[in-house]
Amino acid sequence: MIRSDFPVFSRYPDLVYLDSTASAQKPRMVIDGMKDFMEGKYANIHRGAYALSEMAEMTYELSRQKACAIIGARETSEIFYTYNATYGMNLIAETLRLSGEVTSWDVILTSAIEHHANLVPWFLCASQSDSEVKVTHLKNGSFDYEGFEEAMTEQVKVVTVTGASNVTGEIIDLERIHAMILRKFPWEKKPYFIVDATQLVPHMTLDVVSLDIDFLVFTGHKVMTDTGLWVVYGKKSLLQKFTPSFGGGGAINHVSHDGFIPAGLPSRWEPGTPHIIGAASLLYALEYIESIGGYEKIEEVERDLVEYVWEKLEHFAPLHEGKVQLIGGGREIPRIGVFSFYTPEIHVSDLAESFAEKNIAVRSGHHCAEPLHEENAIPASIRISLYIYNTREDIDRFFEVFEQECSEL
Ligand SMILES: Cc1ncc(COP(=O)(O)O)c(C=O)c1O
Repeated sequence: MIRSDFPVFSRYPDLVYLDSTASAQKPRMVIDGMKDFMEGKYANIHRGAYALSEMAEMTYELSRQKACAIIGARETSEIFYTYNATYGMNLIAETLRLSGEVTSWDVILTSAIEHHANLVPWFLCASQSDSEVKVTHLKNGSFDYEGFEEAMTEQVKVVTVTGASNVTGEIIDLERIHAMILRKFPWEKKPYFIVDATQLVPHMTLDVVSLDIDFLVFTGHKVMTDTGLWVVYGKKSLLQKFTPSFGGGGAINHVSHDGFIPAGLPSRWEPGTPHIIGAASLLYALEYIESIGGYEKIEEVERDLVEYVWEKLEHFAPLHEGKVQLIGGGREIPRIGVFSFYTPEIHVSDLAESFAEKNIAVRSGHHCAEPLHEENAIPASIRISLYIYNTREDIDRFFEVFEQECSEL
């Protein structure tokens, strides 16, 4: 039973954790692996000649290999680690701006389904380069593919989309977007295709090569690692072509009185001491996924849970009486295990507190996706997000309390 692999549930047997989209709980393998790493394999990496440093470096590089494999990258030199979402996406936006790839009149195309992490860096980039961010509208709460294709004018220099919504759970059809890009642009005018895979990678693998993705980012802690580790993929030709905006130790081959020679890939993008323990935790998390049967197992568990939520919703009276609104598309859209609701009569924070009193962890607010809420003409929502350690009983408990709260309206 997967749930028993997570010590938090032995400590709090009554806990219903429905907030994995914010951050996933950690399995014993990750916790023990990190402890073992800190006790017996830890030192700074980068050319330490002694055994501990070599072990730490080996673990760091093994982690990179695994990260490379789950997104289908061909070379580990195309993967580098940064510290958080803001840093990773800002770094890409800043790099494109400083390299003159995004300039006046250019358009950065994205959609209202995005997390702020894939909007704010582009607004900053646009304000500093006189370019424009075009945020396409949703259609019936879902990604509007036709609208997105129409917005692909020849001014578009960047197409940046999420792999899955952290609010509605909708999985974006990246193949379809890739096909649109091929249809709309001649090869030499092809915009940069950038994917925020933060909500995708905890649930499924992907193939950056066949999708011809230029840059992709995902965060470790939602895949059960330590916090503070973001993984960035960049095509080798691009990582070689662009100059990182930051440099320092670890990212150079040689420094003289006059300047420096940058290190090769990927080190030149990882100045300073990286989050070594975080990288180790990603290795252990991905090994854990392998140990339970790989991503196929994750998909199998989640498919069952998502199906069960739909069954519950069929009989969930408050939804049919209009007391509760489900945000986003219905069964017809492919989704990860994320569902958000709006209750006009109860403030979502009060609702979240009622759940908390019953030991049910949900999240309320705009989930760093204000444009998406604006499109739905609602201020905030209450979100449940499911992961491999959840059970049908968790879903029963959630709906039991939800129904009680709504029955008092
Ligand atoms: C789609 C998406 N992108 C980016 C982020 C930001 O990730 P982090 O909180 O690790 O910085 C999140 C966080 O929820 C997210 O859901």
